[in-house]
Amino acid sequence: MIKIDDLTVRYGVATALDGVTLTVGTSEMVALIGPNGAGKSTLVNTLFGILRPASGTVTTSGRLALVPEGRHLFAPLSVDDNLRLGAWRNSDRDTGLVYELLPELTPLRKRPAGRLSGGQQQMVALGRALMAGPDVLVIDEMSLGLAPLVVEHLAANLRERHAGGLAVLLIEQNARLALDLCTRAYVLEAGRIVAEGPSAELAGSPEVATAYLGLEEG
Ligand SMILES: Nc1ncnc2c1ncn2[C@@H]1O[C@H](COP(=O)(O)OP(=O)(O)OP(=O)(O)O)[C@@H](O)[C@H]1O
Ligand SMILES: [Mg+2]
Repeated sequence: MIKIDDLTVRYGVATALDGVTLTVGTSEMVALIGPNGAGKSTLVNTLFGILRPASGTVTTSGRLALVPEGRHLFAPLSVDDNLRLGAWRNSDRDTGLVYELLPELTPLRKRPAGRLSGGQQQMVALGRALMAGPDVLVIDEMSLGLAPLVVEHLAANLRERHAGGLAVLLIEQNARLALDLCTRAYVLEAGRIVAEGPSAELAGSPEVATAYLGLEEG
């Protein structure tokens, strides 16, 4: 569904991505982890055509939707109006399905998005992306700034969507969560993929465990 091949992206003379290759298959749930400034959002923005690559290719199939870093909701608009903005076509603007999937949004539907808690806003951002009826969901920082209980709830929701056939590329600071949710993962450091493979294998590697899971080496 996503095929990124030998991708290089620069900001002026600074190289943010250097020969990155990454794939997400049909109904696959894949994690991309890495420290601040590694190039994760650059990869997302290139995937969605916001940035132009210096070289390499990005191929996608099916419909992609994005939960962007920082949520980017329209603060003065109601939850319901924010959800409608995610609709693929004007005729698809029925938000009912999202309230079924994320029932905690139902009592908030008339509230301005700017007056919600961080966790509630992240639910709206997720709901807005689901309004597009995506085949692939790309989430740039799902858990950032959220309480563990909210994160667990979002994760459970994502698992359900995934069980229903949705492919996911999950970008996460919380490596433990990402490796737990996804079957496969990539580690990006300073613009390069430094490790990749089944999540269990990565979690078992001393380098990844030390750098990302907070475990002592040896
Ligand atoms: N608009 C920009 N202009 C110049 N440099 C940029 C720009 N956006 C990002 N960078 C640089 O590119 C590199 C990758 O940034 P990016 O935002 O992709 O990292 P990230 O992995 O998403 O980090 P974070 O985990 O903090 O979100 C960083 O060194 C960053 O400073
Ligand atoms: Mg980022």
